[in-house]
Amino acid sequence: MTKRFSNRIVLITGAAGGMGKAFAKSFAEEGAALVLTDVDEAGLEQTTAELKSQGFTCSSYVVDLAVAREVKDFTVQICKRYPELDVLINNAGLAYGEVATGLVDISQEKWLIYLSVNTVAPLLLAQGLRTSLAAAKGVVLNISSMASYVPGTAYGVTKAALNAMTFAMAGAFGSDNIRVNAIAPGVMETEAVKMQMSAATHMRIQAQQMLNLNGTPDDIAKLALFLASDDARFITNETILCDAGNRIRGWRP
Ligand SMILES: NC(=O)c1ccc[n+]([C@@H]2O[C@H](COP(=O)([O-])OP(=O)(O)OC[C@H]3O[C@@H](n4cnc5c(N)ncnc54)[C@H](O)[C@@H]3O)[C@@H](O)[C@H]2O)c1
Repeated sequence: MTKRFSNRIVLITGAAGGMGKAFAKSFAEEGAALVLTDVDEAGLEQTTAELKSQGFTCSSYVVDLAVAREVKDFTVQICKRYPELDVLINNAGLAYGEVATGLVDISQEKWLIYLSVNTVAPLLLAQGLRTSLAAAKGVVLNISSMASYVPGTAYGVTKAALNAMTFAMAGAFGSDNIRVNAIAPGVMETEAVKMQMSAATHMRIQAQQMLNLNGTPDDIAKLALFLASDDARFITNETILCDAGNRIRGWRP
């Protein structure tokens, strides 16, 4: 069977673990050569080593997406090395701890970091990589959250802004035939969720789903594969929920 991403380059942010690692594996299995990035050097090294040991092609770069200079330098380097870039997955995000709990006391300094990573970095990356994405008639996928539809936390607000950013980016980059979509996952079983969310909160949120299922990173990866593939050539400017019907009941911290 033909692999959907043979001879294609796929760049994934936040690839040190969790959803980013699941995307990396899924796209590699479909033939993609990977460019992986994260601020977590050790995690990124581990993901890269695992993928290489399975025979997949990948390179990795440590970048702090909260620092505009680092993003700029990274995109210049990538455009030079890859004149064509097929897919950019903006998966990195700050999702846990204070960004998802306290709202009333968050300082401006923190707001700006949260917005920088969750909302603005996806745009800065697409701006910097635009030439290579345009050359490939590429695809940008922003990883939002069901929390964006019930934005009761700083996290939810930054992800709601990411949905708006997706709309803006789809308009701005459409003239280059770059498609821009977002996925809004429900609660998915990643290490970070297990570490950061109490079992009781996880159970309560999961119990809001219409379907009695455990969401896994693979559920999101499968949707990402479709949206990034040629089968979705007529889809842009969409944010697609993948949450087993959870959002309708209302996410809350
Ligand atoms: N797991 C879920 O249930 C769920 C649900 C909805 C949305 N999401 C979104 O999916 C994405 C991945 O989530 P996850 O559960 O795998 O969490 P995760 O914490 O394992 O992954 C996020 C990654 O982003 C990286 N990152 C954070 N700040 C960074 C920075 N300044 N520069 C570069 N990289 C940075 C982290 O190091 C980490 O590897 C996030 O955007 C999250 O908001 C997750």
